[in-house]
Amino acid sequence: METRVLKINDAERDCSAILEAARLIQAGEVVAFPTETVYGLGANALDAAAVQKIFEAKGRPSDNPLIVHISKCQDVDRLVRELPPAASSLMERFWPGPLTMIFKKSHLIPDTVTAGLDTVAIRMPRHPVALKLIERSEVPIAAPSANRSGHTSPTMAQHVLDDLGGRIPLILDGGRCEVGLESTVLDMTAEVPTILRPGGITYEMLTQVLGEVRVDDGALKPVKGQRVKSPGMKYTHYAPRAQVVVVRGELDQMVDKINAMAQEYMKQGMEVGILATHETKDYYKEVKVLVLGSRTQPAVMASNLFWALRQFDDLGVDIVLAEWIETREEGLAIMNRMLRAAAFRVVDA
Ligand code: TXA
Ligand code: MG
Repeated sequence: METRVLKINDAERDCSAILEAARLIQAGEVVAFPTETVYGLGANALDAAAVQKIFEAKGRPSDNPLIVHISKCQDVDRLVRELPPAASSLMERFWPGPLTMIFKKSHLIPDTVTAGLDTVAIRMPRHPVALKLIERSEVPIAAPSANRSGHTSPTMAQHVLDDLGGRIPLILDGGRCEVGLESTVLDMTAEVPTILRPGGITYEMLTQVLGEVRVDDGALKPVKGQRVKSPGMKYTHYAPRAQVVVVRGELDQMVDKINAMAQEYMKQGMEVGILATHETKDYYKEVKVLVLGSRTQPAVMASNLFWALRQFDDLGVDIVLAEWIETREEGLAIMNRMLRAAAFRVVDA
């Protein structure tokens, strides 16, 4: 199959590309499109056969449910069985935006979308291309991140092409994603709303609206077995080709440890990459250093993480030594993804 890439500079003016994508969605095909978080691979959420094509294109395990994307708050009503009162305040404050909420699902949602669960994850993205595509398709769009299963999520159309070229008919290219990490997944069916996957809407932002919020144990730890609430969290994710090792400690000790480890790996003939921050970058020599951003701006660091992991692939490094980032604000989402990219290999400085 040939994969076409259509560039969209302006969702209003370049409408013909979006209309073409909407026609494909209505015809039961899959289309990759930009959101403010990462690129998604979408299909009509109410059509089980169309949704099945997403799993096939990605090589995604069928027990990992998808997020349903809508373009208006009212769209949520027919997709869920009940809407807890707190959900309305969250929708008002954070939609459209990078917050996914989990509700009891209505009969309209096929089991393929939810991997047999009786709950459904729903979000309203704020990227103008995503919103227009959903609106023009006139159906809710089920969409996981548009990467091959297990790879780093795509934040540029080229990443989607690298992963899914030849496997899908169309990619809408809306430039680089602003948030750069997937949405926060918040379980609204729990007694206390619980963050299953941290993202751009942070714990701190949610507590301001809700008062009490929990963070699932799996956020910074490996999750195994039956008790997994968000099945996506149990897979090794976001893995670049290189092995990733996270180094944790006080800033100067961390730098010393990373330099010592880099020397060792280089002696073994390995190409070493270092994932650093503005505050530390000048302390590393003779290695390939990528900078996430300043430690004072976790949102900026978050937006660069997946780009950096893919960049290390292009640079051909064998091992990435990554600095631990404080887990406040977007830092929690950064460490959630980084630890998975590292398969939880952490070294203390
Ligand atoms: O930002 C995003 O959320 C992106 C863009 C495309 O919207 N989408 C995305 O989808 O990251 P995906 O499929 O890569 O991740 C969905 C996550 C998975 O961890 C999945 O297990 C979880 O949401 N999930 C989906 N439905 C669920 C449900 N009913 N209960 C618990 N977890 C659910
Ligand atoms: Mg994903």
